[in-house]
Amino acid sequence: MVQELKADGKTVALIPTMGALHEGHLSLVGQALGRGDTVVASVFVNPVQFNNAADLETYPRNEEADFEKLRNAGVTAVFAPSVSEIYPEGTDAPAPVFDLGEVAEVMEGRYRPGHFQGVARIVSMLLRMVEPTRAYFGEKDFQQIAVIRRMTQTEGIDVEIVSCPIKRAVDGLALSSRNALLSDSQRAVAPGIYRNLKYSVQYSRDHSVAAVRDTVTEAIDALEDCRVEYFEIVDGITLQPVGSWDEAPYIVGCITVYCGKVRLIDNITYRPLKD
Ligand code: PAJ
Repeated sequence: MVQELKADGKTVALIPTMGALHEGHLSLVGQALGRGDTVVASVFVNPVQFNNAADLETYPRNEEADFEKLRNAGVTAVFAPSVSEIYPEGTDAPAPVFDLGEVAEVMEGRYRPGHFQGVARIVSMLLRMVEPTRAYFGEKDFQQIAVIRRMTQTEGIDVEIVSCPIKRAVDGLALSSRNALLSDSQRAVAPGIYRNLKYSVQYSRDHSVAAVRDTVTEAIDALEDCRVEYFEIVDGITLQPVGSWDEAPYIVGCITVYCGKVRLIDNITYRPLKD
């Protein structure tokens, strides 16, 4: 189908997801349709990118509702394979090792060993199976986009990677499938993550990188039931930490917070990328 569409001069988008779809996922569909792409979405909870068995077990799943949402959003085809279709040799069999470079070594790479290898594995398979013109990813998973760009380069996969802005709830919390796992009281506290990130942009105008990092970390650690795993202020291209605001033209703060047992990620731009 994709070959025929492309031969006809049409562009095809791939939107990889792990289901439990929300407006964040659907905004990627909207972006692709807005560009005139025919949209293929995948729904697959990829076991090899989970470095924590409990996280995989509790990951929210709702395939029927997902298919309905994708259909209503205007997606042309959905690929929802089983684990044995994707990994016929089992998920513990020897796996290819991807050269992901320095962008995969910090932050999520450090705290979730093997995670990005698992992401690279599934995304490379999906890109090779579907052969889209473009693939769309959300900036909520800021580091993931850099890792996928690197993977497509080192693997020689010809596709345009499109990054899309973060969708938030009205109270500022970044939409995430994991938000469904928050208790009512945790859900009430969690918007404090973005509130502090947003406030810190103003604070960064007359404070050092270290002062911003420490102030944000302390403020979010002080929220009930919240513990910052890391908050790094990094070069938005290399993902390496910066020591001062003039060290890179594009600077982003990336945070991971445990709200009880639920791991939430978010990020904020301090110095925007200029074209
Ligand atoms: P998942 O967490 O389901 O996310 C699928 C896509 O939706 C990712 O590109 C993610 O960044 C984007 N997304 C999630 N929440 C968003 C939000 N609030 N605003 C904008 N975009 C958002 O990321 C994965 O799945 C997996 O790692 C995957 C790439 C599918 C590989 O298994």
